[in-house]
Amino acid sequence: MQLAHTLLLGFALSSPVSAMFTCGNENATLFPPPPIDRNQLGMRRRQIYLLPPPIELIVHVVARSKRRQDGYLSDEDIHRQVQVIKDSFAPAGITFNHTKNHWIVTKAWSFETPGSQDWVDMQSLLHEGDQRTLNLYFVPWKNATKGGFCTLPWSMGGPLDGCVIKSNTVPGGGHSYWSQGKAAVHEIGHWLGLAHTFEVRDPENPCDPTDPDDGVIDTPKFDYHHYTQEMKGTCHLDLNTCPHLEGKDPVHNYMSYVSDECATEFTRGQVVRMYEMWAKYRAILPENEWEKTVEGS
Ligand SMILES: *[C@@H]1O[C@H](CO)[C@@H](O)[C@H](O)[C@H]1NC(C)=O
Ligand SMILES: *[C@@H]1O[C@H](CO)[C@@H](O)[C@H](O)[C@H]1NC(C)=O
Ligand SMILES: *[C@@H]1O[C@H](CO)[C@@H](O)[C@H](O)[C@H]1NC(C)=O
Repeated sequence: MQLAHTLLLGFALSSPVSAMFTCGNENATLFPPPPIDRNQLGMRRRQIYLLPPPIELIVHVVARSKRRQDGYLSDEDIHRQVQVIKDSFAPAGITFNHTKNHWIVTKAWSFETPGSQDWVDMQSLLHEGDQRTLNLYFVPWKNATKGGFCTLPWSMGGPLDGCVIKSNTVPGGGHSYWSQGKAAVHEIGHWLGLAHTFEVRDPENPCDPTDPDDGVIDTPKFDYHHYTQEMKGTCHLDLNTCPHLEGKDPVHNYMSYVSDECATEFTRGQVVRMYEMWAKYRAILPENEWEKTVEGS
């Protein structure tokens, strides 16, 4: 599996600030395609966006034993996690149809190295549905540095499409700063075509106003070099790391790297982008009867 096609959410544990964020594809391959040409989608002046239908959601729990510390999640754990996902995407008009939970207890896969055969084997075996189906895999990822990773809508279809999430980031799962289930929300944002709010093409110039970064105009730029180890797990509401640019740092954004207590929003631009990415890459259009008008901004 090519990690260039996935996004990793993670913090390095014991590293200099520059390595605080460990993203599996920090270079150009990760960058989102530009916003879609609306004519291509038959959008008129009043901009009709296709709202995704209720997204079919299948949860796979892959545990090494039936014990919690080995990644096992109960019905109730899954229910609470899915509720956080639903609540977080509801303001964006994106809903989920949670149809199935699937448990597999095995020691066959260790999942230690991203991109190893373990991931490919697991996803190939368990994946269900097509590009419209969201497969979430909760795994006991022993390495503490990552919260999860996800395929992007334009990067990979087939059985490797989906999101892998560290089991202990579910609500009450015991993770020290991702403890409210927002890691899954962040990952699903990637699955729906969002990049991190701090993506930049030139890491030396994170505040370059000409950098198209995440392809969304209303997420202010954020110089992640200022985001230090001490800030992990806290809410820093007044960060303004690109002071000469408009807007403070998007510390409440699900697609930033903030603690779960801070992460509470997608911007309007991100919502529009998710609709566009759905329409272009995931929808099977003739079957798609859901439409929503979004006022042009
Ligand atoms: C990104 O590019 C830099 C500079 O070319 C390189 O050193 C680094 O290894 C690349 N990172 C990844 C994840 O490919
Ligand atoms: C949810 O998915 C099931 C199985 O595909 C389907 O029968 C049902 O109609 C769906 N419900 C909604 C609200 O989309
Ligand atoms: C997990 O740990 C192994 C062994 O230390 C290392 O080789 C691997 O790169 C780590 N994986 C991640 C995701 O950091």
